Amino acid sequence: MYNDFQNFWDKKWDKVDQIWPTLFALKTMDFLWEKRWVLLDVWSWAWRDSLYFAEKWFQVESFDFSQKALEHLKNYANKWWLSINTTLWDIKSYEFVNEKYNIIYSCNSLHYFSSNDTKEIFEKLKKSLKQGWLMFVRVKWENDSEFWKWEMLEENYFKNWEDLKHFFSIDYIKSLFSDFEIMYIEEVSENHNKINWWVVKSSFIDIFWKK
Ligand SMILES: C[S@@+](CC[C@H](N)C(=O)[O-])C[C@H]1O[C@@H](n2cnc3c(N)ncnc32)[C@H](O)[C@@H]1O
Repeated sequence: MYNDFQNFWDKKWDKVDQIWPTLFALKTMDFLWEKRWVLLDVWSWAWRDSLYFAEKWFQVESFDFSQKALEHLKNYANKWWLSINTTLWDIKSYEFVNEKYNIIYSCNSLHYFSSNDTKEIFEKLKKSLKQGWLMFVRVKWENDSEFWKWEMLEENYFKNWEDLKHFFSIDYIKSLFSDFEIMYIEEVSENHNKINWWVVKSSFIDIFWKK
């Protein structure tokens, strides 16, 4: 059943134009040398990074709980003769196949949950990655300018009308993956392109791990 947070995203993705892949996607390419690997994009938004990786010959599986997001993605993929598998589901109740993916990619996506849910979701994703393979994550950093203005639900977790945001610290994100090898970690503040060419300065933590 659709919940309020899904409706919030469907409204957002109702009318959007094609935009460029994120700078984060371009950055991960320095670590990806073979293009036919199975890549999970958690989650697609309205397509941009999923299409970018599919164009580069990755076998892309795109996961999102917004019907609109996945509809747009499928339309673009058909138009460009690209093959992308999509799954429409809420990540909180989804069970991923164990040891399935070579790459798990998540840009600006895994920062919507309470601490308990965040831990469970990361555990599920970790299990679905093959041993020896790679996970790339970009989440909001606690230094992001907006967060202190919002209603606090728990430490570093905020609500702003229908929107939710969990802001990460370096220590917190490291603690979620103490059993993985960190290949790269950086705090970044950069222009992030939003829907319809709107650009805002945002602060993130970028982290790349090996299982
Ligand atoms: C900011 S967008 C993702 C950004 C995208 N990776 C990018 O940078 O282009 C967040 C997406 O998360 C999806 N989402 C949020 N909570 C979710 C959940 N519990 N399960 C599945 N998808 C979810 C929303 O539908 C939305 O498309």
